[in-house]
Amino acid sequence: MIDDIKEILFTEEMIERRVAEMGAQISEDYAGKVPMLVGVLKGCYVFMADISRSISINCEIRFVSVSSYGFSSVTSGKVKIDKNLDFEIKGRDIIIIEDILDSGVTLTALRKFISEGGPASLKICTLLDKPSRREVQINSDYLGFECPDEFVVGYGLDYAERYRNLPYIGSLKPEIYS
Ligand code: IMP
Ligand code: MG
Repeated sequence: MIDDIKEILFTEEMIERRVAEMGAQISEDYAGKVPMLVGVLKGCYVFMADISRSISINCEIRFVSVSSYGFSSVTSGKVKIDKNLDFEIKGRDIIIIEDILDSGVTLTALRKFISEGGPASLKICTLLDKPSRREVQINSDYLGFECPDEFVVGYGLDYAERYRNLPYIGSLKPEIYS
């Protein structure tokens, strides 16, 4: 598995430190409220586990399934949201928890869907951002790291469902996905 990694971009220590800071910031910003963290499956699962444990106020943990079709390393542009939520959005302080903001297509679609449910507030928290790849205008309110324009895996991020279990984030050797 590690032979497929070109370069480690974010080490376990870097991620741990940054996620702790983000959790502290959210705890401060939402003091007196009970935010609902809505994780975007499946890429968020490691980030959600860590950031939720770095939040020191009451919060609820929820998940939503979103997929862009296919196994490719670039977005298909088509986003499928599983709209059968097992929770109420109305009146809640929602924070979307996502692994990476790339073209922005996925989070734009999800933000629109959640907004239509009438939340009290809605913010976006992503571990990574690749601003150079943006196709639609959208930003993270809580961002871990800016990421170079490389396909990255690990810490929940996959290529064809593999590499999610790497404890760090690294770029994948281009011959693996081309
Ligand atoms: P967007 O709709 O293009 O912003 O795509 C966001 C989704 O694409 C993320 O939730 C990831 O699942 C996936 N994605 C984008 N870039 C990468 C990457 O470098 N590695 C792994 N998955 C990625
Ligand atoms: Mg994802």
